[in-house]
Amino acid sequence: MLSNDPDAEHSARIIRERAGDLGTPSFAIVLGSGLGAVADALTDAVAIPFGDLPGFPLPLVRGHAGRLVLGRLGGRDVAVMQGRAHYYEAGDVAAMKVPLRALAITGCPAMIFTNSAGSLRLEVGPGSLMMITDHINFAAANPLIGEPGEESFVDMTEAYDAELRARLRAAAGRLDIPLHEGVYAWFSGPSFETPAEIHAARTLGADAVGMSTVPEVLLARWLGLRIAALSIIANPAAGMAGKALTHETSVTEAARAADDLTRLLTTFLEDGAAA
Ligand code: HPA
Repeated sequence: MLSNDPDAEHSARIIRERAGDLGTPSFAIVLGSGLGAVADALTDAVAIPFGDLPGFPLPLVRGHAGRLVLGRLGGRDVAVMQGRAHYYEAGDVAAMKVPLRALAITGCPAMIFTNSAGSLRLEVGPGSLMMITDHINFAAANPLIGEPGEESFVDMTEAYDAELRARLRAAAGRLDIPLHEGVYAWFSGPSFETPAEIHAARTLGADAVGMSTVPEVLLARWLGLRIAALSIIANPAAGMAGKALTHETSVTEAARAADDLTRLLTTFLEDGAAA
């Protein structure tokens, strides 16, 4: 799965050339809307605009900067994607295939996805962090459709790596940051969900809803990467708080939690062995 993708190979080469010793990150971190400030915590940072990396997205959505930042966090080499491509932007569910593949080609073994999300649990309010334990694909789209070979039959039983989750839980405990855990339901967006959809999602076992991450997790598991994922709760989901939802709220509420997220990721990286 790593071979035969000229754009990914080209991008991986550029990453290695520009980042030098930092060009084989031990973790890649994908930042959701409003969470770009996490990248400011990196030391020795080298930033590469997505426009310089063939096949990387040129994000249109507010709250996404569109840079790959390589540097050090918690004593480890990391690559941070400040911005991502969403299915709802151009209807391409595999829009993150090249970036994730390029990072895998550099030798990066693990990824941490972050997103801003709506909460389906009233007790988990804006600014809370939720570690994703599993997901439900309500968008019913899959970036692996059309991929040749048996590898596309990816086992999703333990998609969210148990050991990485244990390490995140321990880091949160050490920092006294409440870390909720739950199931993330992916809706395509860009419209927010209806209250009936939220009721259905809650009834079917979801704890948070959002418009990203799931296609990336499918691609990353197909690429053989270990993964963890964190939702930053931006709002109670549709119909739960009697308020209209806006993208502005998603961005500003997520930004308020960026500091907690940075501390959590730093401690997680400090504490653990390489992925
Ligand atoms: N729904 C979907 N995506 C979101 C939400 C939401 O309520 N909040 C932030 N991203």
